[in-house]
Amino acid sequence: MTKKVRKAVFPAAGLGTRFLPATKAIPKEMLALVDKPIIQYGVEEALAAGCEEIIIVTGRGKSAIEDHFDISFELEATLERRGKKELLALSRQVSNMVKLAYVRQKEAMGLGHAVLMARELIGDEPFAVILPDDVIDAPVPCLKQMIDVYNQTQSSILATMEVDGPAISAYGVLEGTPDSTNPKLFNVTGMVEKPKLADAPSKNAIIGRYILTPKIFELLEKTPLGAGGELQLTDGIKALLATEKVYGYTFDGIRHDAGDKFGMLKATVDFALKREDMGEKFREYLKSLSL
Ligand code: UTP
Repeated sequence: MTKKVRKAVFPAAGLGTRFLPATKAIPKEMLALVDKPIIQYGVEEALAAGCEEIIIVTGRGKSAIEDHFDISFELEATLERRGKKELLALSRQVSNMVKLAYVRQKEAMGLGHAVLMARELIGDEPFAVILPDDVIDAPVPCLKQMIDVYNQTQSSILATMEVDGPAISAYGVLEGTPDSTNPKLFNVTGMVEKPKLADAPSKNAIIGRYILTPKIFELLEKTPLGAGGELQLTDGIKALLATEKVYGYTFDGIRHDAGDKFGMLKATVDFALKREDMGEKFREYLKSLSL
């Protein structure tokens, strides 16, 4: 029997240390890319891909995320009184967006541990994982592309992109062979976390989109803590490889690391230039700079 990917997990309980001091009191996932919190881009992507339920893994200091997707009674009443219809619609659109559930990760014990927290809410079905700080600009939403592949293969899928040179050392890297039937697929046989360039088994870096079969939960339960004393999602996926097929998928689109200061700056320029309401003005401003 084939199962559909209906649920998406958003791990959002990390400490966001790369973006200090901004993330001291504000969750990284709530940092605005132009005018929208980065997690909202991910939620919109999951909805566009057909997901019906969103599960956000939060922790201490993350209540702004819950407030963002909730009704803001005071704000909405004020906007209504002032006749600000467009702003009111914008605020309501966020709270009406989707069915959301929250689960706490008491300590930031790693991405694998964060995903494991969603076990009961997911149950026995395939699911997506979206890392909210990876914002992907794509003609077809990245997760939709991946679900299309999942529907054909019924196997776990890891989004991957080619990274040249020493920059590969910042990523988990896939080991395996290109698939003979589909040039965008990679038959995964292993994974190496943050290798030196000379040790990288391929140029295929893992980025923040996954479709996983529920088998991952029982494997994560048994996975010992890995690098940095954290439960690594990649260690769980490695264990999955022993019994199930896992594919890498080269998505169409551009991935921005919005959890990193420089990545966020680049994303801001790209997204602002594409905006109908400010793109032209912003382009003129950039041209006027004597760089
Ligand atoms: P990152 O490694 O990018 O997030 O994890 P981080 O640890 O918050 O960031 P830095 O490196 O200190 O700046 C990717 C996603 O996984 C979540 C994070 O919130 C982020 O959205 N995460 C990470 C958890 O939910 N729990 C964890 O234990 C670790």
